[in-house]
Amino acid sequence: MNIALYRLVAGFRRFRERYFQGQDHEHSAYQRLVSNGQTPKTLLIGCSDSRVDPAILTGAAPGDIFVIRNVANLVPPCEPSNIGLHGTSSAIEFAVTNLKVENIIILGHRQCGGIRALMRGDADEPHTFVGKWMTIAKDVREKVQTEHPDADEEGRCRFAEMESIRVSLRNLRTFPFVEEAIASRNMNLIGIYFDLERGELWECNDTPQAFRQLEI
Ligand code: CO
Repeated sequence: MNIALYRLVAGFRRFRERYFQGQDHEHSAYQRLVSNGQTPKTLLIGCSDSRVDPAILTGAAPGDIFVIRNVANLVPPCEPSNIGLHGTSSAIEFAVTNLKVENIIILGHRQCGGIRALMRGDADEPHTFVGKWMTIAKDVREKVQTEHPDADEEGRCRFAEMESIRVSLRNLRTFPFVEEAIASRNMNLIGIYFDLERGELWECNDTPQAFRQLEI
């Protein structure tokens, strides 16, 4: 068997032993998910980066979080649904209008490859999918260069990783159903930055502009 598939199956064997066999609590919990369907309270939008798996980072159990992962945890602005294909937007729509999540968390992170591509100019004349996708945050590059002219490359990337979380938070509000959910049932929008070099979490609310470190 292919080694990657072998490891996947071995991992699934442990998962199945934990959630599908025996009569322990977790077994019955999973059976409830099967019978009743999912009712996650939180939509988490994270990066595809293999080091920032939301369920692993948060110790989430099956059914806890509805997750979207894409390059650089970006939310595009709302666009007409009849033009193009909108994977991220459609998942946000489902989470908000069908699942009626109470929170949307944007989870950014240090050493983001998508942000690095943005900062080296890949979004200026995009000829790759990543370059085009990163145009969502194209204003971030100029803003960081203007506001942090003395920062080195890593420092600029760090600022850009944080700033792009604000872009996604702002873009979330361009979806009418998001605004409606905030107004009618107080849905929360939360920005979190995972500094994987230091093992820290930072929170950014919509406003003010500052991030603050979360006490762990
Ligand atoms: Co990333």
